[in-house]
Amino acid sequence: MRVDFSLSHAAPASLDTPLLAVILSPDAGGDGALSLLDAAVAGALSRTLQRRDFRGGRDETLLLVGADTGVQRLLLVGRGAGPLTRASVRRAAAIAARQATRLGTGALALWAPDATPEAIEALCIGAAAGSWSYPDLQTPPAEKDRRQPLERVVVVASDEAPSRDAFAAGVAIAHGQALAKRLGMMPGNVCTPETFATVGQEIAARHGMTCTVLGRDDMAALGMGSFLCVAQGTPEEPRLVRLDYRGGAPDAPPVVLVGKGLCFDTGGISIKPAADMEWMKFDMSGAGGVLGAMEALGRLKLPLNVTGLVGATTNMPSGTAVKPGDVVRASNGKTIEIINTDAEGRLVLADLLVYAAGLSPALVVNAATLTGAVVIGLGHHAVGVFGTDEAAVQEVLTAGRRAGEPGWSLPMWDEYKEQIRSDVADLRNTGGRSAGSITAAMFLREFAEGYPWVHLDIAGTAYTQADLGWIPKGPTGIPVGTFVELLRGRAAH
Ligand code: BES
Ligand code: MN
Ligand code: ZN
Repeated sequence: MRVDFSLSHAAPASLDTPLLAVILSPDAGGDGALSLLDAAVAGALSRTLQRRDFRGGRDETLLLVGADTGVQRLLLVGRGAGPLTRASVRRAAAIAARQATRLGTGALALWAPDATPEAIEALCIGAAAGSWSYPDLQTPPAEKDRRQPLERVVVVASDEAPSRDAFAAGVAIAHGQALAKRLGMMPGNVCTPETFATVGQEIAARHGMTCTVLGRDDMAALGMGSFLCVAQGTPEEPRLVRLDYRGGAPDAPPVVLVGKGLCFDTGGISIKPAADMEWMKFDMSGAGGVLGAMEALGRLKLPLNVTGLVGATTNMPSGTAVKPGDVVRASNGKTIEIINTDAEGRLVLADLLVYAAGLSPALVVNAATLTGAVVIGLGHHAVGVFGTDEAAVQEVLTAGRRAGEPGWSLPMWDEYKEQIRSDVADLRNTGGRSAGSITAAMFLREFAEGYPWVHLDIAGTAYTQADLGWIPKGPTGIPVGTFVELLRGRAAH
């Protein structure tokens, strides 16, 4: 993350900043600290509010020009009516940061007059989201056209002690999300399975975790015929990356986070149509989310044990690729008839879920851009949530809601299992057109044995093909927030 965050307890009116953004609701009055600020901009703020040139509606912004010193520009940002929530503050902070980026002020001070500690955290997360970009592969503009990127964000908070922890947590989560977004945005020829190994090792080195990387031969030795059949069409070495964080008691069973890491998904022999196929570079978003959560966890230093597992490969058609009708054997001994080579994510996850059982986990949560069907069913506003343990499903739903990454649970009734029965093997890897997200989850369930398990289908939510106003087109950072909230919830008990 390029932006450097700091926390200030100074009075907003006393700041010396090129840009101060104030987050306001429709019923903001000119009292207290606001009237001090009004004086600093020679009454422009109160006149603006009186004339109702700014009404505090969601995403509404108005720029007031100040003097050459002190508060040089004042950006009013609306958060909409209703009580202040993490989501409304996060969104407004992101709008402010995008505006600061457009203006090229280089620095931004952020203030929400009625901020709670939770809102301080949301200010950091939002500002990071709004200033996020991936400039690595573009030639920078000529000096004369160049705008200063946003490099400094100062979060203004009145009360000291509670806001310090909230600020630190917000910055930790922001770093995790930025990492996940960066991995997502990287094209398939830049983010390869090896990248997950490298980034995993970097996280481990930064935060005192252990990183273990397995390749093709190691996985073959473990009998991972399901994962490896996806990888057999690509010359790229597949990677199973395991990160162990031990912040809890030595004997405390870990929470295991598992991510689908398809660096690119062409569909394989069951090749996808050409239109929009470039978006399949985001098919590693589950894995990116696991590494992003581990990065945040390393910064938060939560008192529990967590293992991250990533299965990284590329789904390609080739002379060596797996083909429809082939039967493979997963590491738990179950045989799988490949009906469609484009249903590859579940094949990778199957062996990871079996591997997870060996860690005697307290809970396993996997995230995957698994099915187009979840986009049909839930669109882009809800994560598909499935699981074998109702309490764990509720726990993950709560975590997602808190993180502003809401999920919706879908059934896993035994009746659906009929659809993945095979004539030649124990299972088939697709279940026909109906209930595609559910039959994918039913397939995974066959490998998630011996522990409470939750599966997140993030195909509709991990990236956005439209600019959302506060989040630009591209990766959303989902499911990092959900993972972090889940772990925080567990750490608190
Ligand atoms: N990666 C895709 C799912 C996907 C689709 C993610 C759209 C994001 C947006 C997955 O590997 C896939 O291809 N699933 C197939 C399964 C089908 C062949 C049973 C699908 O959803 O079409
Ligand atoms: Mn696919
Ligand atoms: Zn896929």
